[in-house]
Amino acid sequence: MKGVILAGGTGSRLEPLTKFLNKHLLPVGPYPMIYWSILKLKEAGINEILIVTNKNHLSSFIELLGLGEDLHVNIQFKIQGNVGAGIADALMSAKKFINNEKFVVLLGDNIFEDSLSPFVHSFQKQKKGAMLLLKEVEELTRYGVPHLDKTNLKIKSIIEKPSNPPSSYCVTGIYMFDQKVFEYIETIHSSHRNELEITDVNNLYIQDDQLQYDILKGWWVDAGTHESLYQANQYVHEKIKKEDAN
Ligand code: DAU
Repeated sequence: MKGVILAGGTGSRLEPLTKFLNKHLLPVGPYPMIYWSILKLKEAGINEILIVTNKNHLSSFIELLGLGEDLHVNIQFKIQGNVGAGIADALMSAKKFINNEKFVVLLGDNIFEDSLSPFVHSFQKQKKGAMLLLKEVEELTRYGVPHLDKTNLKIKSIIEKPSNPPSSYCVTGIYMFDQKVFEYIETIHSSHRNELEITDVNNLYIQDDQLQYDILKGWWVDAGTHESLYQANQYVHEKIKKEDAN
């Protein structure tokens, strides 16, 4: 399976840090943020990786990562033409790279503890469709939030940044898709915040009864704000301390 890391966007919630530096190059523990997504994919056996970013930041990523030699993965790059036009817009640039396979997508600002391996294995067994990973969180209005059915076995719909969250879970930025995702993206329209929303795409999978989900057990942070970036650093430092003590 291949992996796609989305590392574009404007990083507006992290200004002024992101005025000249791409969000995914900011430090989280001893590494630039983007390392964590690459290492998670690698740990799950995914070595063919596409990074999608903005034209202005491409040279910094190449300077940092080359073609992945230091991290022992194969990295390719693609530019998202319309800066900040949405997660689904960024994902569309991966179509050629994916070429008819199922694949994993990580939002580059998601830092998390769980290994992706068990989820990737179960998605490999899933014939078609998509799989999302959820996490119980507090600040629900920041995220996509699933409306679960009574048995909690299925997601009935997902609402992006709801004022009345329909559950206590958020949809994390860890997605597994089949090829159909690109067809769905072609049918959606920009939202009120002028973005092609991944939540609209996931709702199309739900309509076709092709969406599965699982739940993350360990900590998970969307490091897209000053406070959560600080929290991601704390989690990572704790993890490194524990590993050093063992
Ligand atoms: O972190 C989980 C949340 O991520 C989900 O719960 C939401 O459903 C999902 O919409 C997303 O919400 P955010 O508001 O946090 O998305 P953000 O704009 O911060 O973008 C997330 C990542 O996607 C970021 O690392 C950069 C990348 N991105 C984003 C946009 C808008 C792109 O590569 N291109 C883009 O145009």
